[in-house]
Amino acid sequence: MTAPFDLAPLLAPGTPPPAVKWNGFPKYNFVGGHNDAKQVPVQALIDAATAVLKREGATLATYGLNSGPLGYRPLREFLSGKLKGHAAIDCTADEILVTSGSLQGLDLVNTLLLAKGDTILIEKETYGGALSRLAKFGVNIVGIPLDDDGMRMDALGAKLEELKGKGITPKYIYTIPTVQNPTGSIMPEARRKEMIALARQYGTMIFEDECYSDLVWSGKRPPSIYALAGGEGVIFIGSFSKSIAPALRVGYIVAKWEILARILGLKQDAGSGALEQMVLAEFCTRHFHDHVPKLNKVLSHKLQTLREALAEQFGTAAEFGNPPGGIYLWVKLPDNVDTVKLGQAALAAGVSLNPGPEWSVDKGYAKCRLRLCFANPEPETIKQGVAVLAEVCRREFGVPLRSANIEKR
Ligand SMILES: Cc1ncc(COP(=O)(O)O)c(C=O)c1O
Repeated sequence: MTAPFDLAPLLAPGTPPPAVKWNGFPKYNFVGGHNDAKQVPVQALIDAATAVLKREGATLATYGLNSGPLGYRPLREFLSGKLKGHAAIDCTADEILVTSGSLQGLDLVNTLLLAKGDTILIEKETYGGALSRLAKFGVNIVGIPLDDDGMRMDALGAKLEELKGKGITPKYIYTIPTVQNPTGSIMPEARRKEMIALARQYGTMIFEDECYSDLVWSGKRPPSIYALAGGEGVIFIGSFSKSIAPALRVGYIVAKWEILARILGLKQDAGSGALEQMVLAEFCTRHFHDHVPKLNKVLSHKLQTLREALAEQFGTAAEFGNPPGGIYLWVKLPDNVDTVKLGQAALAAGVSLNPGPEWSVDKGYAKCRLRLCFANPEPETIKQGVAVLAEVCRREFGVPLRSANIEKR
């Protein structure tokens, strides 16, 4: 028998631990950024794929189709129109780079700007994928507190001043201003302008992540920071993951050409998947504007189902807001609950959740908090999953009290 090959001595330093094998989704799936399965526009995507392949399938013979390294031109043209109407961004198709999910956008921007020891500013509660990436770069991550309107500008200004006193210019301010992950806030226009003024005053950039901005129940949102700054000193990323489907892996970066040209120099993957871009362009130009309100109706209903289920099962033990959009609810449980431990026990009972500490710079503050994604489970499954979660939490931490739900009624 051949001895198993030992890879360990050959690994590059800093290689992350091996991944665990995937065992399927749990019955009650409240993690990650999954979307509503029934709202994936399957037939329209089939029709779009057929039409675009019949018409342009032969262009798959070349890297980058006939559109060059920025990505499929009709998709960039659709985006340039959509961004203008939706986010007030005035950009041409040549100021948009299509990426393999907006995660690739995060990676590219970080690779362009960050070196070990740099400082970046970030919302204290933020996207776990951004935090884990920054940790790998070995940068100094400084959390800025949030309130109901997003990142607090008084705290941002004070921190910038403090850093200036130490001779430190942060590389960027990372923000998710339009439906913040995980808190769901939308930053008002005035605050966006304050952020631009502060960034300019202290000579740093703004990195604006608009992953969820299509998912606003009212359909109304302030202009993007990128738009308000005329694109100067701002890099913007967006995604089709939350508005259409995350498995497509299509995102985009918007930046002035001088910046985009440098990012393009780093994107050495010979182009992001072409078929996804072609199908999306074909679908979106016809259906995007009808599809999104339909999706939002279903998502907002699921949010209310989750809020009602939490109120019923946890009573006053669970505190949460009523986000104006998105796919997440950020929940506070009593102080004695450790959501990392709760997450492990809940998983054994078939409920997956995102423990707060993975979504915060301040692990102590987030210890009793958790993020629930309500987009994927059906309403009945949401109700059942929350009931199971309450039972596990009671068993492990003694809360919610059995009477908690009765108190509420
Ligand atoms: C704020 C934020 N940015 C970026 C991403 C990455 O999304 P994707 O790579 O699917 O576009 C996510 C995913 O959940 C996110 O929440």
